[in-house]
Amino acid sequence: MCGIVGYIGTKQEAAPLLLEGLTRLEHRGYDSAGVAVLAPSGVRVAKRAGRVRDLQEALPKRFAGKVGIGHTRWATHGPATDANAHPHTDAKGDVAVVHNGIIDNAAALRAELTDAGVDLLSDTDTEVLAHLVGRSEGATLEAKVAEALTRVDGTYGLAVLHADFPDRIVVARNGSPLIIGVGDKEMHVASDLAALVRYTTTVAHLEDGEIATVTASGFTTYRADLTHAPRTATELDVDPAAYDVADAGGEGGHMWREMFEQPAAAERVLRGRLDERFGTAHLGGLNMDARETRAIRRVKVLGCGSAYYVGQMGASLIEELARIPADAEAASEFRYRDPVIEPDTLYVAVSQSGETIDTLLAVQEIRRKGGRVVGLVNVVGSAIAREVDGGIYLHAGPEVAVASTKALTTMFLGFSLLALQLGRVRDLSVADGKRIVTALQALPEHVEEVLALSDELVEVAEQLAAADSLFFVGRVRGFPVAREGAQKFKEITYRHAEAYQTSELKHGPLALISPAVPTVAVVPHDELTDRNVGALHEIAARGGPLVVVTHADVDLGDVPCRRIDVPRSERELDPILLTLPLQLLAFHAATHLGLDVDKPRNLAKSVTVE
Ligand code: F6R
Repeated sequence: MCGIVGYIGTKQEAAPLLLEGLTRLEHRGYDSAGVAVLAPSGVRVAKRAGRVRDLQEALPKRFAGKVGIGHTRWATHGPATDANAHPHTDAKGDVAVVHNGIIDNAAALRAELTDAGVDLLSDTDTEVLAHLVGRSEGATLEAKVAEALTRVDGTYGLAVLHADFPDRIVVARNGSPLIIGVGDKEMHVASDLAALVRYTTTVAHLEDGEIATVTASGFTTYRADLTHAPRTATELDVDPAAYDVADAGGEGGHMWREMFEQPAAAERVLRGRLDERFGTAHLGGLNMDARETRAIRRVKVLGCGSAYYVGQMGASLIEELARIPADAEAASEFRYRDPVIEPDTLYVAVSQSGETIDTLLAVQEIRRKGGRVVGLVNVVGSAIAREVDGGIYLHAGPEVAVASTKALTTMFLGFSLLALQLGRVRDLSVADGKRIVTALQALPEHVEEVLALSDELVEVAEQLAAADSLFFVGRVRGFPVAREGAQKFKEITYRHAEAYQTSELKHGPLALISPAVPTVAVVPHDELTDRNVGALHEIAARGGPLVVVTHADVDLGDVPCRRIDVPRSERELDPILLTLPLQLLAFHAATHLGLDVDKPRNLAKSVTVE
């Protein structure tokens, strides 16, 4: 999704640094890119639809300037064209703006500007910002930006250059991340740590409603009314090398590499958190003592997309192990139904990036209403991680592929730890606690065993890739597995893949079953195995091809199918092992179709606009 970079210094040229920063944001997904520098002659802009390397090739030979801003765009208002790419400028060409987020009242502002005789050159909401800054009577660039922002409703992270104020970049944030990086006589600006961590790990995160002036020697932060809001930079405890993701991801690409990093990621999220003696987990970051934990009456999990589906798996785990009513909801819908926030509910926000705007807004809604939210977040220091009351870092390592794999596995394990801790301060016995601890300790090895099935799954994945439409079905614990399987399949193969509860098939979708529509069924060894097998017969009787993800000791009788056996864990932990073959099937199917698995069409890695 959209990315921002900025540079101001005394020693280096801005353009190469901006392009390098944009390259480091490429994995987020984008469709056009652009940069602006302040040259002695004024603001100069280069932008175009396509990749950063296309922009690089098209950059004029002389594009000098030690101050600049850059952007990767993911189209929201208007298609991916050169004109719609950022930066956008005002009528005189003195102002350049890059913007992440959405200006909700852009249509009204565009109409107003057109009425005032302004020629709008793009379809974007961002262009209005450039004109508003350019037309402002404010005496300083900060005043101009602040005045422009009083006119806009919506979300933004933005960076602004002005020919009359060549010693500064002015940045602002409302709902879309903006980070300032402190160097030696030079400063960086970015929407994502990955873009600047190579140059500095001393950073300040702008808060919502703040504006900042960034010069070569430092920065000053203000509230929206330009009163000072002092903010100091802190040294982050991160390894810059871990953000080195600009390479191709090695053979097979990022998704492939990340799938096979799952055993190591699983070990990391569990490390130091399991207590064998008392059969529990230690999660200091939750910031809750035993009394507060006991007082929880309900758990509500919030996440988007795959994080939501893993959230469903997590809610089941919590209900099973801690016997607390728990459910998951799509964070993108949550705040729009004016939810009742209960003081004895524990809200859990789950997010790999920690920047997903829908999840962040749900967290803010809960906190505004006095609720307690903890986070299961991968990216350290991200917006959600900073907003929540406590949490569990997932330690999956940077995830680059759009299709989330290793982060989801660590989310599931994060939920297992949470469920264990909640359970053990309530009614979960030591024996049951120890049973789960032992199973968790064995899990990384089981993950490895499932991944070893990869080669065997190529042929069946190719058969699935031949279908235009598929079903993924499961029941109870198996249903979120089916949802996640369908999600992975559709997002990288572009096939229509629909998840259903197996029990619901005969209430409608069975009408679609035919030899042309395969079904991938999740059939664990559990209390529903027989009923699941009954449904398989119904599908087979209608000629539907079947792939069954199951356990070796499940008797599928004479159902004609391709079965995939995964190792058994404890029944509560089975969902994650059942999910892994579905990642592999999606990957092999997409690769067979010749698709770019790491950059699926229309999708972005971090969804920072509503
Ligand atoms: C699917 C996928 C998305 C994300 C969703 C939430 O493979 O990656 O559905 O799970 O956009 O992202 P995070 O976890 O960053 O909040």
